Amino acid sequence: MVFAAILAGGSGVRMGNPNKPKQFFYLGEKPILVHTLEKFCASGRFDGVLVLTPATWVQQTRDIIAKHCPQYADAVAVIAGGAERNDTIMNAIRYFEDECGADKDAIIVTHDAVRPFVSLRIIEENIEAAAEHGACDTVVPATDTIVESADGKVISAIPDRSKLYQGQTPQSFNMAALREMLESLTAEESAILTDACKAFVLRGRPVALVRGDVGNIKITYPQDLRVAEAMLEA
Ligand code: CTP
Repeated sequence: MVFAAILAGGSGVRMGNPNKPKQFFYLGEKPILVHTLEKFCASGRFDGVLVLTPATWVQQTRDIIAKHCPQYADAVAVIAGGAERNDTIMNAIRYFEDECGADKDAIIVTHDAVRPFVSLRIIEENIEAAAEHGACDTVVPATDTIVESADGKVISAIPDRSKLYQGQTPQSFNMAALREMLESLTAEESAILTDACKAFVLRGRPVALVRGDVGNIKITYPQDLRVAEAMLEA
């Protein structure tokens, strides 16, 4: 069984509107979240699709889905996410196990609600890689030189760019392995390991690479929304 968790539980502080998380901002004629959700629903690859939002946005999200993509309203569940991104993922795992009968071979594809340009190819390659390797991350080769600084004042290293990639989402996993990994984290580790793949890497578990796309942008700042509008028009 294959499940999708659309992570929309953040508050979008960097976008700058404290009353409305960025996943609910309009991109063209519909909220960003709806664009993202449609990609997953239209793929036809999932036994269940779940959207996780801040608790106060659950009912509004159901209304938004009913209004903008009524054809998917019955197939999509909406529940509250958690305080941190990994808490949101944990809520998704519990939901799929308790409500959808996810078994030990189930796969979970986790995706940022604010990456509306994810492609069908990326989704399908995530499912394949998670089934084969147990965990995968979507990445693109780094284009800028990445400079490391231990103290924020002077450069301590400039790693070889040919070995560096920028992480995107989806990140996909064998669901049981992901649960085990997240449950094994101490409180201190949880505070640092906001990226689920990083937890696997630190525990020495393999995480396969899936080729992402430079168009699979994350909307973080207001200027990202302007770029997304231009991409949509193009
Ligand atoms: N996310 C989530 N649950 C959280 C935190 C984040 O589901 N507790 C989701 C966000 O909604 C977003 C994705 O994870 O779709 C990527 O996170 P990010 O861009 O950092 O979103 P925010 O935390 O909302 O942004 P900011 O850091 O600016 O507040």
